Amino acid sequence: MKLTERQKELIGKTFIDFQQTSYMQEHGVVFNRAEGLYCWDTNGKRYFDAVGGVYVATLGHRHPEILDAMRKQMEKSIFVPPLHGISDTGLEFIEKMGSITPGNVNFIKGFSGGSEANEAAFKFVRQYYKQTDRPTKYKFISMYLSYHGATMAAATASGGSERRTKFEPQVGGFLKVPNPLQFRDRFADWEEANKFCADWIEEVIVNENPDTIAGVLLEPICNTAGIVKPTTEFFQRVRKTCDNHNVALILDEVLTGIAKTGRMFASEIFGIVPDVLTTGKGLSGGVYPMGVMAAREDMAQAFIGKPEEGLQFGHGHTWAGNPLAGAVGIATIDIIQKYNLCEKARSLGDYLNKKLEQLKKYGCIREIRGSGVLRGVELVKDPQTNEPFPKKSKLGDALKITSVDNGLIMRVDRDWFAVCPPLIAEKKDIDELYDLIEQSLKKALDMI
Ligand SMILES: Cc1ncc(COP(=O)(O)O)c(C=O)c1O
Repeated sequence: MKLTERQKELIGKTFIDFQQTSYMQEHGVVFNRAEGLYCWDTNGKRYFDAVGGVYVATLGHRHPEILDAMRKQMEKSIFVPPLHGISDTGLEFIEKMGSITPGNVNFIKGFSGGSEANEAAFKFVRQYYKQTDRPTKYKFISMYLSYHGATMAAATASGGSERRTKFEPQVGGFLKVPNPLQFRDRFADWEEANKFCADWIEEVIVNENPDTIAGVLLEPICNTAGIVKPTTEFFQRVRKTCDNHNVALILDEVLTGIAKTGRMFASEIFGIVPDVLTTGKGLSGGVYPMGVMAAREDMAQAFIGKPEEGLQFGHGHTWAGNPLAGAVGIATIDIIQKYNLCEKARSLGDYLNKKLEQLKKYGCIREIRGSGVLRGVELVKDPQTNEPFPKKSKLGDALKITSVDNGLIMRVDRDWFAVCPPLIAEKKDIDELYDLIEQSLKKALDMI
């Protein structure tokens, strides 16, 4: 869109997330309205929002049933004193949330976003080991290429150096292992690369000394690596390793929860139950900031005692678990269950995947990955040799511009792009989305 001088000036007075201001002044969009699958800019141009903002409005923008629940809650209460109690709605949300989390991971603490939920998970796990006679367990292992949030510990746990090194020194006690994607071309197949990386996690635990390792933090499907889905065997091996060495397995389902992968939580795809699970994004229905840390109920027992024992979880945020978030979370889960949206994510995802496969005719795609409606497309210069595009003319850079020009919002990185259409979409909407992607890709190929 063409920004007005005033819009450019005001953009210059803030930072757009992770983006360069001068780029945003040239290519940014000023949105002023959203409904269902679409957003509009201040010039009235319509955009197909194929990622629900950023994997958040997974039921479409401003879902009427969520807005109704929010309005009703606003008539009752919006904020309650967090050091004195919790709202009735907050309690109902805890029960609802616990009914969809895997296994006995149904001890629930609400937050206002994914980073907050992950920070809470680190503190919960460290305090848990201190209070169960294993105070030397404090280190966390996570993966290169991952993303766990923007706050200091969550950023330290994240894999991409571009979002970490600028803020060094990092938080102590965090170790990294490779993502199987980084080793795929050194092995005969994907399964072997996954086995190798799962074994690497065990090697790190053993060599560091298991008595010092508190947790392994993983995304079931990693967005920032390009929607990378490790194998079931990978997760089952890691689960076993964590059990063998008494290490907490923390799954970051901030992005993969809820429903978009075809399951309420992606851990179900791999048949594993974590010890701690974090989520956010889509749980909010794209309507109100939310995050959740869920933990095994028996772990939470280590925090219960007489007030004078000081065992309580030493953590909280002003807005954590407030009643509006509770009402929105309950409504979101209700809608997913009422309309069978996990099932819909699977069938619509299959259709979307078939359509995306057609893009291979343009000779610039190595792989299409993902689950349900969460799909990533890897871009290469030559799919025969898997040669990547050169640094100076990345197809993703061009696609980022042509897609927005074309009225299409996707998650576009330099060597991949991803879509995650809201679950209110139907096949005809996926056809429209495919046409927009195809036009944008053709224009991007012409540009480089
Ligand atoms: C996997 C994952 N974890 C954590 C976060 C951080 O969540 P938030 O931006 O809500 O703090 C994100 C955000 O993109 C994410 O994708």
